Amino acid sequence: MSKPKVFVTRKILDRGMEMIQQFCDADIWLDDLPPSRQVLSERVRGKEGLLSLLTDNIDAGVMDAAGKNLKVISNHAVGYDNIDIAAATRRRIPVGNTPGILTDATADFAFTLLLSSARRITEADHFVRSGLWKTWGPTLMLGADISGATLGIIGFGRIGQAVAKRAEGFNMQVLFYDPNLNELVPGVNAHPVNLDILLHQSDFISIHTPLTVQTRHLINKAAFDKMKPNAILVNTARGAVIDPSALYTALKNKRIQAAALDVTESEPIPLDSPLLELENLILCPHIASASNSTRARMSIMAAENLIAGLKGEKLPNCVNSEIYD
Ligand code: DGY
Repeated sequence: MSKPKVFVTRKILDRGMEMIQQFCDADIWLDDLPPSRQVLSERVRGKEGLLSLLTDNIDAGVMDAAGKNLKVISNHAVGYDNIDIAAATRRRIPVGNTPGILTDATADFAFTLLLSSARRITEADHFVRSGLWKTWGPTLMLGADISGATLGIIGFGRIGQAVAKRAEGFNMQVLFYDPNLNELVPGVNAHPVNLDILLHQSDFISIHTPLTVQTRHLINKAAFDKMKPNAILVNTARGAVIDPSALYTALKNKRIQAAALDVTESEPIPLDSPLLELENLILCPHIASASNSTRARMSIMAAENLIAGLKGEKLPNCVNSEIYD
């Protein structure tokens, strides 16, 4: 019996890759860079399954290019703003994602950014390497206090809550804003507040909301104007939640103290972006989930979703499960 044909838009970790190759006739894009839209549309043609990455824009055009045989789209990510879910749902194509397994890695990384920014780790490293360090000094590289500070978490799902648990160990007071969750969460020491209160009262703000029409540029000039001058902003969610030009102005004019971003509106951030000039900004290349075991588990979960869809079974993690109703 012939195996179902699938297109995999990048090589993922071996565990998932092996599962896919065992069950499918897999056309794998082996380049380090994502396939262009034209290549994607050509290679997906006639396939029954598509395994995509967050760098692939899977819209109605791509689904139509695949044709009527397309049975499943499995996204190798928990976020799925790169996929037109409504278009998939209209075509009754289930879309899978990888929730839960990257919670700890992402929360760890958000905290790494928070601590690094507060204690100026990248600046300090640069200071030492460039020979500027002459002696120990009472005012050398003073940073923000963490213990006793207030952390505001925007988006209080799995990852936001995991960040709150880490903050408790650092003796921080935690506020959260989440329009879908407006009550205390058992076992998590954090208080629900509205966005204005969070912006006004937080020393640190960490973003953990998905990118939606409502959250695009949620952190704009008006939001920066409400923040404390000592505020430090951390983003490990999606870059477009922050308006980059408002961020530039806020950091440049010291309207807030600093920011640390794992994600930016354009990825990679253009090398001529003015944000790159700023010393009070840490930039990372979207690696919050990049730990060995997390990426291995993501590959397995993405493979499981893909294979379930090809078998006509309900995906273990489906973002548009209403198609099964
Ligand atoms: C996701 O899964 O959405 C992260 O951004 C990358 O792992």
